[in-house]
Amino acid sequence: VSRIAYVNGRYVAHRDASVHIEDRGYQLADGIYEVFEVVDRRLVDVSRHVARLTRSLRELRIAMPMELSALHVVMREVIHRNRIRDGIVYLQVTRGVAPREHAFPARPVQPAVVVTARRMERAPRDARAGQGIRVITVPDSRWARVDIKSIGLLPNVLAKQAAYEAGATEAWFVDSDGFITEGSSTNAWILTGEGEIVTAPGSHGILSGVTRSIVLEVAARRGLRLAERSFTRTEAMAAAEAFLTSRTTAVTPVVQIDDQLIGDGKPGPVASDLRALCLAASAATRA
Ligand code: PDD
Repeated sequence: VSRIAYVNGRYVAHRDASVHIEDRGYQLADGIYEVFEVVDRRLVDVSRHVARLTRSLRELRIAMPMELSALHVVMREVIHRNRIRDGIVYLQVTRGVAPREHAFPARPVQPAVVVTARRMERAPRDARAGQGIRVITVPDSRWARVDIKSIGLLPNVLAKQAAYEAGATEAWFVDSDGFITEGSSTNAWILTGEGEIVTAPGSHGILSGVTRSIVLEVAARRGLRLAERSFTRTEAMAAAEAFLTSRTTAVTPVVQIDDQLIGDGKPGPVASDLRALCLAASAATRA
């Protein structure tokens, strides 16, 4: 089947899908995005993603471009037209098209909306989680509002590229105080030697991941010890286990940080357990 994208009210062939050169997303990264997951042809955790989408738009004072029910219809249509069984839906909303000026357009313009979908098989992701991945650490050079899911991702792009060039899968940002904030497209976690699961606080310095919130909930229900607090690179190096979370990776064990093996260099039992719980919790929300 040929891929189809939704662009500003129309379903178009993916290869021909385009936006105006003065779209403020293109010129100024003045927009936000959301990545939804499709499991067995259905969206999962929709309400969590919609809540974050709503917040991102509100923080940038961009109007919700359409009714949520209509948005849901569009996403389902894109899933259907692209015959996606397992994969993602990418939604991007920018402030719209206007002559290039830093300040918002004097007369409000219609926000620009793009929805695409992509197949992503489960097996390779499960295989990678079974093996565990390596991460590198890089300085966190991002702006102070990384809590907004903005399309301005240049530091994240450079960090991910650095990871790949180092033969790793992800880069973890370290702030100027030595604390690990999060990954270039994932949240970062450790399990301490004392059995405490730790991830950076959601309040600032990170994007509050939907998967992160799910893992916090399933871990609490499991009666595991949890702390939302900052942790240093040094503490991470000495951790019993490490893992990362995001929509498409779920919980994926980290077995090496820079040159340091974590634990015995194999995925740990807590991360593997949380992966199963997290996948089950999401699958239960198929809508
Ligand atoms: N990335 N931190 C950052 C910087 C992210 O970009 C993401 C998501 C996450 C994890 O959030 P969630 O669990 O809601 O996926 C954390 C998406 C998937 C992306 O940019 O493609």
